[in-house]
Amino acid sequence: MKIGVYGGTFDPPHLGHMAAATQIKARLGLDKLLLIPAKQPPHKALDDASAPAEDRLVMTAMMADGIPPADSVAADGQELQREGASYTADTVEALAAQYPGDELWLVMGSDMFLSFHTWRTPERICAVAGICGFTRSPREELVPLEEQARRLSQSLGARAMAVALPEVVDVSSSQVRQLLAAGELQAASGLLWSQVFGYILRKGLYGVKVDLAHLPDDQLRAVSYSMMRAKRIPHVQGTEEEAVKLARRWGADVDHARRAAILHDCTKYYTVEEHFAVCRRYGVELDELERQSEKLLHAKTGAALACHVFGEPLEEQVAIYYHTTGKGDMTLLEKIIYLADYMEPHRDFPGVERLRALAYTDLDAAVALGCEMSIAEMEEKGREVHPNTRAALNSLQHGKEWEHE
Ligand SMILES: [Fe+2]
Ligand SMILES: [Fe+2]
Repeated sequence: MKIGVYGGTFDPPHLGHMAAATQIKARLGLDKLLLIPAKQPPHKALDDASAPAEDRLVMTAMMADGIPPADSVAADGQELQREGASYTADTVEALAAQYPGDELWLVMGSDMFLSFHTWRTPERICAVAGICGFTRSPREELVPLEEQARRLSQSLGARAMAVALPEVVDVSSSQVRQLLAAGELQAASGLLWSQVFGYILRKGLYGVKVDLAHLPDDQLRAVSYSMMRAKRIPHVQGTEEEAVKLARRWGADVDHARRAAILHDCTKYYTVEEHFAVCRRYGVELDELERQSEKLLHAKTGAALACHVFGEPLEEQVAIYYHTTGKGDMTLLEKIIYLADYMEPHRDFPGVERLRALAYTDLDAAVALGCEMSIAEMEEKGREVHPNTRAALNSLQHGKEWEHE
């Protein structure tokens, strides 16, 4: 396996890191790329405005998670766990021991690469890993890096190479920190992976102060995405898109549909303990079936956060609360969120096209079909059907009968 090692303070990790990681992985044909946040970088002193090490690790992991294919890039917290100063030679030797027989490449931006020979014990690094320097701006010349690669090969016997990255994003962490501290959130968000931006807002890092209740749509999106794995984001985006379309078609409040969709799965990745903690804190009651099913729990806890953290109105909370099961006598918004989640553009299962067509011609029939499909699926898997799903179906069927009388 060919493994890349990319260290930095990642304070915070930004789109420049993300673009470099994506391209260097492709250029070197890496099977895996490890991003390693430094605890006490020997080259730069962390200033007062830096984020705690644990937060830098979480943000780096989020950015790594956002680089496809899944799990090809990961954050590694070993330098943060080590006592004292962290030296790259220690890290690279530890990785060589951890991945015996694999080919290691230490990758770095040009500033680091050009001073590599002045680092502490560079020969120890070169003994176990190749060294690769990359350009950090579109205007940067490759020639000095190539010369440095030759010098490192001659003086240290290094496997060294220089690469130009065609699509570098010219941004620095200090620039991002300054924007955040100055409250220029819109500008900062353009330089950050959405989940990292959401995490900064949620944790109030780098001097950011926002009230999580009543965030504007773009910040609400980022915060919600920061609570989930990157691979779920397209589903949530699809649900938002579908909910807005359905709201326009059926004359529901578009903003409520949008914001309920953005938040509907925000606790999807909570552990059972986290779900129970939210339920205890906000007095959410659970029935026996909900206690046993994480799939059902996230709807309840998502609604609780929509209320108590994000300050969303009651109609949105209820739509989130019932988005998985449905319920008897659903409101227009509840039907829309239930269906949008069910049939958003990324969903693919037998019958989804029928559901999609029906949703824009006969909303109640579409919700009823969704409930029937859910019931059939649960019965097939030998699982208990939630009474709310049967109640939803019943009330829709009775509603129809009543209309025909
Ligand atoms: Fe859900
Ligand atoms: Fe969902």
